Amino acid sequence: MKKLINAARLTQKNSYAPYSKYKVGAAILTKDDTIISGCNVESSSYGLTCCAERVAIYSAIAQGHNKFKALAIFTENGGSPCGACRQVIWDLCGDIPIYIARETGIINTTSSKKLLPNAFDGSMLK
Ligand code: THU
Repeated sequence: MKKLINAARLTQKNSYAPYSKYKVGAAILTKDDTIISGCNVESSSYGLTCCAERVAIYSAIAQGHNKFKALAIFTENGGSPCGACRQVIWDLCGDIPIYIARETGIINTTSSKKLLPNAFDGSMLK
């Protein structure tokens, strides 16, 4: 858990956030204990921005991982994942523990299910 949070913390430094100035780092732990991290990447066309959580999860998928055990998110003030990311976390990770942290430590230990109760589930489409 400490390693995961530290990976999110280190990756926060790579955040490209010239518009909001809000830097976010995220790190996902895969089933085989690989840590893959991401940061938010903003666009001048604001809506094209991608959040740190999604960058981390999509990178992990791109690297061939598809089972996840935990997610850490690191910001300056302990911000929670946005609604869009909550859906993506649910879709691709299921119910996993989520650690929300800042420099002073963990702000909240929660889970995908707690963050998105009564989620729309991909199984509805099958
Ligand atoms: N952001 C994230 O990276 N993750 C979230 O869950 C919330 C928002 C980013 C998007 C944008 O670059 C900045 O934070 C301000 O919204």
